Amino acid sequence: MNPLRLIGTALCCVAIVFGGLTFSSDAQLDPNFYIRSCPQLQSIVYQILSNVATKDPRMPASLIRLHFHDCFVQGCDASVLLNTTDTIVTEQDALPNINSLRGLDVINQIKTAIEIACPHTVSCADILTLSAEISSVLTGGPGWLVPLGRRDSLTANQSLANINLPGPSFSLTQLKSAFADQGLTTRDLVSLSGAHTFGKSRCFLFSDRLYNFNNTGKPDPTLDTTYLKELQKQCPEDGPGDNRVNFDPTTPNRLDKNYYNNLQVKKGLLQSDQELFSTPGADTIAIVNRFANNKIVFFKNFKKSMIKMGNIGVLTGTKGEIRKQCNFINKESSELDLATVTSTESIEGGVVSSI
Ligand code: HEM
Repeated sequence: MNPLRLIGTALCCVAIVFGGLTFSSDAQLDPNFYIRSCPQLQSIVYQILSNVATKDPRMPASLIRLHFHDCFVQGCDASVLLNTTDTIVTEQDALPNINSLRGLDVINQIKTAIEIACPHTVSCADILTLSAEISSVLTGGPGWLVPLGRRDSLTANQSLANINLPGPSFSLTQLKSAFADQGLTTRDLVSLSGAHTFGKSRCFLFSDRLYNFNNTGKPDPTLDTTYLKELQKQCPEDGPGDNRVNFDPTTPNRLDKNYYNNLQVKKGLLQSDQELFSTPGADTIAIVNRFANNKIVFFKNFKKSMIKMGNIGVLTGTKGEIRKQCNFINKESSELDLATVTSTESIEGGVVSSI
């Protein structure tokens, strides 16, 4: 073979090998993963979630957030669902999650229905990922083919949840770096932040902006003054701090592009939201403007970034397990006597509805 051709062939092989490696983390995920083992999966999840959303229109937002809080901590492996036991320290008590996670009981409800239809087949991580997509569809957002085949973790990591999940007072630099740590770009940051188009936040997470921003004794100057007054009414200075305020005052339960229009008129709720538009000279401003002007462009990017987030650190093949119960690893669920399990679930059901 002539030497040039040999080099060409060698380069081509290198490209194939490295190309293969690049995609290896999610190579085994496939939207048709359960096509034979659980063909009813999508319709069961859809049915349950559409019923739940009618009674509790905020739940789709809560489920999308639950998926995000799962994926940013050791990957999308349902680690966030695990309860504290002898060997597990729950992520649910990490600072960003405590008294704040909703939807755990809904995921359990779906898991129970799926265990009846297709026993020991579908992972809790896939149920959570699919629930996020269906939540988008149910609230007017885009739908997409969800790559499936994740397995569930055998561990949780509360300290990693405290480290990896971004905070409401983060600067743009901190936000970008939290997302980059997960392999997500600035564009992913802007499109995924669009999930703050629905759901609620507690007052204490942004009340510094209303009364004493950066210890100036004054409100955040990047907050619209009429909106500021509305927020001060909903979050009195000496109030309890756990009142809940809608992220989007106009369409609080819809997944639409209003989030970006709100940022343009200084009506972002969290500092981390407004940073995307009000940081001088930031490359995120142009992205916010594009999404604010065109719903189709936002939806296209939202889908793409949700799929990318859903692929973070997934367990496939023989890694992890398919949990029988989403709150416990299989070893522990078999060790727990039925009485304990039943009482934990009933307590949880009561707490979840109040937050
Ligand atoms: C960019 C960095 C982010 C920060 C700093 C942040 C912070 C927050 C905070 C502080 C809350 C209110 C929590 C509470 O009141 O207890 C919240 C709620 C929420 N977040 Fe984020 N978040 C971020 C990104 C995301 C992403 C990427 C998603 C999903 C793709 C998301 C979806 C939501 C949703 C839907 C809610 C409302 C949940 C409900 O009403 O139950 N957030 N976020």
